[in-house]
Amino acid sequence: MENLVHLSNLTTFGLGGAPLRYFRPKGPLELREALRQCRRLCMPWRALGGGSNVLVEDGRLPFAVIHMEEPSFAWIRRTGATRLRVGAGARIVSLLAFCRREELEGLEFLAGLPGTVGGAIAGNAGARGKAVADALRRVWTMTPDGRCVVSASEELRFGYRHAEFGEALLMEAEFELARGDRKLIALRMGDCARARRDNQPIGISSAGCIFKNPPGCTAGALLERCGMKGRRIGGAEVSAEHANFILNRGAASSRDVLELIREMKEAVRSRFGIELELEVRHWPAERRAA
Ligand code: EPU
Repeated sequence: MENLVHLSNLTTFGLGGAPLRYFRPKGPLELREALRQCRRLCMPWRALGGGSNVLVEDGRLPFAVIHMEEPSFAWIRRTGATRLRVGAGARIVSLLAFCRREELEGLEFLAGLPGTVGGAIAGNAGARGKAVADALRRVWTMTPDGRCVVSASEELRFGYRHAEFGEALLMEAEFELARGDRKLIALRMGDCARARRDNQPIGISSAGCIFKNPPGCTAGALLERCGMKGRRIGGAEVSAEHANFILNRGAASSRDVLELIREMKEAVRSRFGIELELEVRHWPAERRAA
């Protein structure tokens, strides 16, 4: 266990204050101990993977963070002709390299996505009309009292950028893929990664798409039509490449980002009557009494 960790160092947005406790368990036993401590102290907790889809506020965070970053959670194993088992901490890029090498197809659409398998499953990450849950068979989670539970993917009620783990923490997952050809798999991965590079800002701090796409349209197109591209508050700026991305231009505060989000929502609401919903996970800081 380490304390005084600032999440700004662990999130791709470069934002976030200090949690009540920071745990980086080295394996299931330490994970069980972390969950038990949280339970004993009645302390809420949140799991962190690659930190690429979270908007964490600056300041004191009223929860503990369990960071699934250790190598013992980052393994990938083939468990059948078309089956894989993966630890929640494995990077997506490593999973895709494994699939390519083992000639297993079905996850190519994830190419170019940052973050970990755990994060991708928790948010049912997707692209091109496909989502990670489509190929998921089972997950292994740990409950707050330290029990390990296996669940079929259907039990997690996956939807568009949505999954329900209740109080449990994801430890590993099993995917059912299909046999494929290495060259074709590599081509498809290349296409997906290229498409991302062509119309999304890469290499600048952000948390990916800020809003979910409303039914039948895309948040990016709506925001662009509202003239939001390039709009800046403090160090936070709406990307000129893709209007559903907010960039941290170096010194953004979470307040800058939240203010920009409020403006973006207001613009789309007043022009189109559509209520945009956050796609990134928002982790608020402690509210000080006025
Ligand atoms: N568009 C605009 N203006 C913009 C951005 C997009 O007009 O500023 C238009 C594009 O021209 C295109 C359409 O909107 O016709 C869709 O754009 P894009 O292909 O970029 O996809 P998206 O719907 O904006 C979704 C996911 C992305 C994923 C891409 C690729 C959501 C919220 N976003 O974006 O996921 O990478 O598809 O398939 O579902 C993320 O989850 O963080 C993320 C980036």
